[in-house]
Amino acid sequence: MSGSNDLYLRALRGEKVERTPIWVMRQAGRYLPEYRATRARAGDFLTLCKTPEMACEVTLQPIDRFGLDAAILFSDILTIPDAMGLGLVLEEGVGPVFERPLRSAADIAKLGRPDAEQDLGYVMDAVRVIRGELNGRVPLIGFTGSPWTLASYMVEGRGSKEFRLIKGLMFEDPKAMHQLLQIVTDSVIDYLTAQVLAGAQSLMVFDTWGGMLSTENYQRFSLAYMQQIVSALKNDQRTAATPIVLFTKGGGQWLELMAATGCDGLGLDWTVDLATAKDRVGEQVVLQGNLDPTVMNTGAAQVRDEADKVLQAYGQHKTGDKGHIFNLGHGIQPHAKPDNMQALVQQVQQHSAAFHGETSD
Ligand code: CP3
Repeated sequence: MSGSNDLYLRALRGEKVERTPIWVMRQAGRYLPEYRATRARAGDFLTLCKTPEMACEVTLQPIDRFGLDAAILFSDILTIPDAMGLGLVLEEGVGPVFERPLRSAADIAKLGRPDAEQDLGYVMDAVRVIRGELNGRVPLIGFTGSPWTLASYMVEGRGSKEFRLIKGLMFEDPKAMHQLLQIVTDSVIDYLTAQVLAGAQSLMVFDTWGGMLSTENYQRFSLAYMQQIVSALKNDQRTAATPIVLFTKGGGQWLELMAATGCDGLGLDWTVDLATAKDRVGEQVVLQGNLDPTVMNTGAAQVRDEADKVLQAYGQHKTGDKGHIFNLGHGIQPHAKPDNMQALVQQVQQHSAAFHGETSD
């Protein structure tokens, strides 16, 4: 595939497009043999993230192989806490772990705001190298974790099922909790701004753990800080035109609240009924999602059927609808079959045009 494909950006701006664009969360990852080969060459995951030429190589692998409509920067959400000095390591079989997690209000008070170009310069270098290599082929998505999700890892020190420590802090010392969320938010705004200046053409905020909160606490401890991020970027002329997508996993009941932040799009996990979501907020925001990622571990026939169901659930793109971007409802898993990704991309690219016909209604 050659030439320049800006379908994804046009769709994200709510423009009328000829078919539904597709990209996939974690599209560069362990299900791809070429990713595993590059990672082996790098030695470990963090070296891969911190070496711009290698990060570029893995970013482009799924674009070259499948003809997806957007590339996503190869990095991780935990780069900001790492730059704050918490000491990120990726333990085989465990996932990301911090050597120096935050264990007290005093630890939080000591945190500094990283300089995005200095302390996270390897990320900006990766963005610049990738934009050069892509040469306009498809747009490049930049990203961050949400303040709540980053704070969860910073306090728990690793992935968690119960969120005992972070929720303990939230209930027992809300002042310290807000102090932590504020410094992370300020750092995220700097980080996303630097990504845009380096060449990121859209932004996504991964709120992986917002769905663990009550509605009231979601609004106070997660959404309020994502709101600050959206407002800051929309009010800065350097970033105002860059579309931003919010994704709260497990946040299906809060779509109206999320859309009201002024973001451009919402990522939906697979538990959300896409047709209902379209009725609720489809005229305000672009909807991105939401095939169950585990389908990608089954057969190509299942993948094609389930992809059609997602396209049908969004249905016809009518005047006034902001539109749909195809994705999974969460990241593709290491057991996914590469052939299924090919089947998925083909199905969406070939079958979605029928949902973009002229209709007046
Ligand atoms: O989407 C992409 O292709 C871009 C790259 C990307 C990665 N992580 C690469 C990665 C993105 C956007 C992320 C975001 C991320 N990282 C999130 C938010 C999205 C989500 O999944 O909810 C979270 C929570 C993290 C934290 C993180 N990083 C975890 C939990 C893990 C371990 C996951 C696992 O499956 O073992 C990582 C490591 C990681 N980040 C890998 C990749 C490809 C696996 C690294 C490897 O072993 O090679």
